[in-house]
Amino acid sequence: MCGIVGYIGKHDAVPVLLDGLRRLEYRGYDSAGVAILADGKISVRKKSGRIANLTDLIAQSPVAGHVGIAHTRWATHGGVTDANAHPHSDQSGRLFLCHNGVIENYATIKEQLISEGHTFKSQTDTEVLAHLIGKEYDALASAPGTARLVKSLRSALTQVVGTYGIILMHADAPGVIVGARRGSPLVLGLGSGENFFASDVSAIVAHTREAVYLKDFDIAVLGANDFEITSLLGGASGYEVSKVEFSADDVSKGSYAHYMLKEIHEQPETIRDAMRGRLVREEATAKLGGLGMTPQQLREVDRIILTGCGTASHAAMCGEYIIEALAHVPVEVEFASEFRYRNLPLPKDTLVFCISQSGETADTLAALREGKRKGLRVLGICNNVASTIARESDGGVYMHAGPEIGVAATKSFTSQVTIMALLGLMLGRIRHLSTTEGLRILDELEALPGKVARILAQSDHIRAVAEKYAHAKAMMFLGRQFNYPAALEGALKMKEISYIHASGYPSAELKHGVIALITPEVPSVFIAPEDSVFEKNVSNIEEVKARKGPIIAVGTEGCDRIAKVADDVLWIPECPDYLSPILASIPLQLLAYYTAVHLGCDVDKPRNLAKSVTVE
Ligand code: F6R
Repeated sequence: MCGIVGYIGKHDAVPVLLDGLRRLEYRGYDSAGVAILADGKISVRKKSGRIANLTDLIAQSPVAGHVGIAHTRWATHGGVTDANAHPHSDQSGRLFLCHNGVIENYATIKEQLISEGHTFKSQTDTEVLAHLIGKEYDALASAPGTARLVKSLRSALTQVVGTYGIILMHADAPGVIVGARRGSPLVLGLGSGENFFASDVSAIVAHTREAVYLKDFDIAVLGANDFEITSLLGGASGYEVSKVEFSADDVSKGSYAHYMLKEIHEQPETIRDAMRGRLVREEATAKLGGLGMTPQQLREVDRIILTGCGTASHAAMCGEYIIEALAHVPVEVEFASEFRYRNLPLPKDTLVFCISQSGETADTLAALREGKRKGLRVLGICNNVASTIARESDGGVYMHAGPEIGVAATKSFTSQVTIMALLGLMLGRIRHLSTTEGLRILDELEALPGKVARILAQSDHIRAVAEKYAHAKAMMFLGRQFNYPAALEGALKMKEISYIHASGYPSAELKHGVIALITPEVPSVFIAPEDSVFEKNVSNIEEVKARKGPIIAVGTEGCDRIAKVADDVLWIPECPDYLSPILASIPLQLLAYYTAVHLGCDVDKPRNLAKSVTVE
């Protein structure tokens, strides 16, 4: 959420920054801007709307220099206007700042600054922070330059409450960009004769794969040939140079029309990667070494809490059904935003899993910290290996799904549910599952990627169905048992990218109110594979048909009953009940995708959204 890039070095900063912003556009696309330092002066170009608008502005009014900062915004405080676009300056107009996060006490600070004669051009909390740092800078008696800038930054940051990943520069300190983080990610990219700042390595991976991930309270001073990291809490701060696992090609769309479509099609591979090296045939189980727990410790777990937001919370709900079915361990799912403020009774043998693709979601991170504060073992299930959740958790499982750029989560969902199945198998084998049962589950897991590929091969049929219903007034998504969370996820995909209102329910809930919404203009998507609740689902389908509601079903290949009762069927291969949400989610992702494309929606950058929600 919001993207930040900074460059200092031998090349012109503008093309590097614009390229970085384009790669970060999925993090926010309300407005974008750059500030470039040259000849002791900082020039700014900023514009509301997509990065293309900023590029046009720079073409009309060029700017160049070897030091610069840039930002793409997802609005929090202040509307989507040119004035609210970052970078923001201080009162002197010599200091510029880009910010990701929220300064919670900005209103009080602003009031104070106004009483001291400061004037503001925007409604943002960021501009207040820029003014505060500038005020501290102007108040210091020391010589203008880097040391004074860092001192004023330290002093300002001790006065603010909230979260920030910031980079700033001052016309008095032309040889450096300064960055700081608390709660919002910030990384240094190390080049040769050039260095970078970014909120996400994907912005700079085309230039360097050497990265230093900053920690909360770090302050980094970045020159073209060197850098220094200290802590706001005092003294030097330790750091590690990491090698970025993916390349610039991994964050390109390739031949696909959209990132979302590419990521949907990557799923046979990403599901395989989620299992790679973790299936142990000789022991008929799954091994998840990253948990850092012995079988004895895992045997003692008597309750699991799965927490996350949005799609990750749907994966958690799938996990609840799967782990309870395979391992008979009680599982509870909590939205991370609720967990963090709810005073849940948490017996000591409770294990908490925080599920997050980005590993940076503010609520999920806060849930992690709350769990740890309460003395529990908190594990992460993350895709981004360098993320804050991955680093702060007591251990966990990486998804290894590669960068997910499409704002709508797809491959991360199926990776998360696959990991839930691995957990269920592992915990089940420690408890009551026999070797034979374990081996059967392993066989089914190994067969998944091939089955997913078979579903993807039906894309043309799914597109035709999507186009048939694309002008629906609303849609219902219904499923039972393991597929109730899949229905929630199907509805979320549909509404977030096509803007068709969609709701997910357990099929049996229809009669308790939802059925009032059924009309010929409101199709119902039933996830009804041939499982233990198939007949019950068919009865619910009949109830909808009796009210002239169109039926799209996700059904098991070769099932005549579903072909007869539904208007259209999206086929999935036969599989055990506990794996069916993985297969069922694939046609639902494609249904949402083709509906949105048919309606002319911007699939990769849906309205009002941004990837990685780093504010509460
Ligand atoms: C929906 C979607 C969001 C995310 C949610 C959590 O398609 O992408 O609902 O799932 O914001 O994000 P992570 O998994 O990064 O914590």
